[in-house]
Amino acid sequence: MTRDEARNKIIFAMDVAGMAEIDRWSALLAGKVGMFKIGKQLFTATGPAAVRKVQENGGRVFLDLKYHDIPNTVAMATLEAARMGVDLVNLHALGGYEMMATTVETLDKEFKGGKRAKVLAVTILTSSTEETLRGIGIEHAVPDMVVRLAKLAKSAGIDGVVASPQEVGLIRDACGPDFLIVTPGVRPAFASADDQKRIMTPGGAVAAGADYLVIGRPISAAADPADAAELIVNEIMAVV
Ligand code: C5P
Repeated sequence: MTRDEARNKIIFAMDVAGMAEIDRWSALLAGKVGMFKIGKQLFTATGPAAVRKVQENGGRVFLDLKYHDIPNTVAMATLEAARMGVDLVNLHALGGYEMMATTVETLDKEFKGGKRAKVLAVTILTSSTEETLRGIGIEHAVPDMVVRLAKLAKSAGIDGVVASPQEVGLIRDACGPDFLIVTPGVRPAFASADDQKRIMTPGGAVAAGADYLVIGRPISAAADPADAAELIVNEIMAVV
């Protein structure tokens, strides 16, 4: 794998509160990471301005808003995200087949089979345990539900999933080589675990079959963030 290919696998989690910090992180990490993830906090505070800002600074965007609603609402929200030119956007697979299929059909109709945002499904949040599932009436083990929802997403035309590093291998086996797998919960050998529990190193996650790694604090909390990103690239290249 080339250095650029390894860099393109890194999605920096831009977990910041406002616009001023976007410029700072874009400048620090331009050319060091492949994409910037904008989540619910930043988007709720700033709206599409945050997306435009990252794009103006030359960055690609993963809009992580995890839509879950009736099919038409999710399809139209995802369409608006795609019109902003984001590279990745996501929804909850628990919204069901029709919600996912309607979304993909709506995007394909607008973009006429051309390049469009890739749509990812969240299967079971990594914060959920078997007990959480039982509490909402789901009597299955977490890995079984994850694989079941990943397969459902694939059958609905969804491009990939967001999953914990532990589940990457199972999903790769069940959904084949072309299904995108994006994983958070990645911790390089040099970084602390923070509040992440079931962690894996960047090289381990890529070797298990992950296409992209979402990484926040190991980069943002480092004394030299650009250097930390380069160390992660080294770790990925050492394994694949
Ligand atoms: O700082 P850290 O590397 O833990 O950041 C990981 C990012 O991935 C955060 O934005 C977090 O919200 C997100 N995420 C996660 N675990 C999930 C889903 C998303 O850590 N299961």
